[in-house]
Amino acid sequence: MSQTIFILNGPNLNLLGTREPEIYGATTLKDIEAECASHCKSNGWTCDFRQTNSEGELVSWIQEAGVGGAALLINAGAYTHTSVALLDAIKSLDIPVIEVHLSNIFRREEFRHHSYVSLAATGVICGFGATGYRLALDAAGSQLSGNV
Ligand code: DQA
Repeated sequence: MSQTIFILNGPNLNLLGTREPEIYGATTLKDIEAECASHCKSNGWTCDFRQTNSEGELVSWIQEAGVGGAALLINAGAYTHTSVALLDAIKSLDIPVIEVHLSNIFRREEFRHHSYVSLAATGVICGFGATGYRLALDAAGSQLSGNV
């Protein structure tokens, strides 16, 4: 059975393409999902790609990834900067966790410089727009094959 990579997206990421395109780009979440699905397929992985605006649902999905997933990519949107619940959920995992942000959060407002997700993530990719998801998949692949 192929390994499943969970790719979880948080609040407002459903609006990609129209939301502040000067920051987040013109690529939609559907486009990113298609790119991730294709990249996963060519690596022999199953892609489980989801988006929610709800913090509780993200927590439940992180727990699910811990049971059935080989790795987790997460763009938690604004919950990145606020959610101890997400941190606790990620801490419970024993799989590679790659934190992804489209924008470079360190070049933006100070409140975006702190990430609860980073306190538990294996690594972070930010500032490369939609391409960051593919880079994060490659990072997860390196982790899974032990070529870190
Ligand atoms: C984001 C960065 C967050 O600060 C912001 O709240 C988002 C998107 C990013 O992908 O750049 O919603 O996670």
